[in-house]
Amino acid sequence: MKKRVLSGIQPSGNLHIGNYFGMIKRMIEYQESNDLFLFVANLHSLTTLNDQEKLKSLTLEAAMDMLALGIDPKKCYFWVQSDVPETAELTWILSCLTPMGLMERAHSYKDKVAKGLLPNLGLFNYPVLMTADILINQANVVPVGKDQKQHVEMARDIAIKFNNTFGETFVIPEPEIPKEIASIPGTDGQKMSKSYRNTIPIFAEDKVIKKAVMGIVTDSKGIEESKEPEGNTIYELYKLFASKTEADALAVQFKQGGLGYGDAKKMLLEKILKYFEPFKEKRKQLQNHPKKVETILAEGAKKVREVTHKTMQKVREATGLKY
Ligand code: ADP
Ligand code: TRP
Repeated sequence: MKKRVLSGIQPSGNLHIGNYFGMIKRMIEYQESNDLFLFVANLHSLTTLNDQEKLKSLTLEAAMDMLALGIDPKKCYFWVQSDVPETAELTWILSCLTPMGLMERAHSYKDKVAKGLLPNLGLFNYPVLMTADILINQANVVPVGKDQKQHVEMARDIAIKFNNTFGETFVIPEPEIPKEIASIPGTDGQKMSKSYRNTIPIFAEDKVIKKAVMGIVTDSKGIEESKEPEGNTIYELYKLFASKTEADALAVQFKQGGLGYGDAKKMLLEKILKYFEPFKEKRKQLQNHPKKVETILAEGAKKVREVTHKTMQKVREATGLKY
């Protein structure tokens, strides 16, 4: 049976290879044979980004990145979150059914506060907005990285609570997180994330990508020493780009000694540049024609609102808001 697959990406910085392998690549595959819903989550970014020009440009750039990488708006629903204001309405309605206890257990919120971010109410309510994104489109599969798993579980809990309270209204979503790409490491070995400044960007200039790759943190083993490939950031990233034979060969070279980290980084850099080369021309064209991108997004919002309007009609009836 055809699945209804949905995911979003925050435009809070340049897209990186963690985003690509963690989510975008799968979405590009999904659009061929399933109903794909993909959007730029600019309302989510507003929880941490309060800069008009930056939010505007990052929103368009995230859309351009995804279009250049192969998202085809004719084959899927592709839009910007704030162009579908009923999502915010649903967020309020769902908030009124969401137990505080559920929200207080959110790891992502707790982590951000622990890291010193001064939280606002939007950041706390972020999982309910995400729930609204998913439920308003009646999605059953949500491909995300491991960091978002709990949020999708919260969406399930809230959907079940709503259906139990007001009658069958929402499809119950499932997260989808393949093990091998659950958490792609960044240049410091932690999860690659815009907020940790440890990313390898997809569409930066070659020299920027080179700087990031050459800056990958390793231990201080010398060239001749034997090195453990598993858990080694260079090897973990290389595996994403190389064939199994190539990856196995790198593992052997590391283990037997004779390959220094510097040379291994160069091998990785070459793979990364080659992999994204074919998308660069399209990315440039889009950059030069922002109006075209705006039109694509406006049409995308119109198309998805046919779906969201239907859901909201049901929700207003079920809750008694339609009098
Ligand atoms: P970031 O952490 O850089 O802010 P986002 O939270 O915007 O990234 O993530 C967008 C999508 O990319 C989500 O589905 C997320 O799970 C996935 N993703 C982000 N970083 C990684 C990573 N290092 N490994 C796997 N998936 C990731
Ligand atoms: N919160 C997600 C992230 O930062 C982005 C997002 C917003 C999302 N709404 C969503 C992902 C709905 C999946 C489904 O990665």
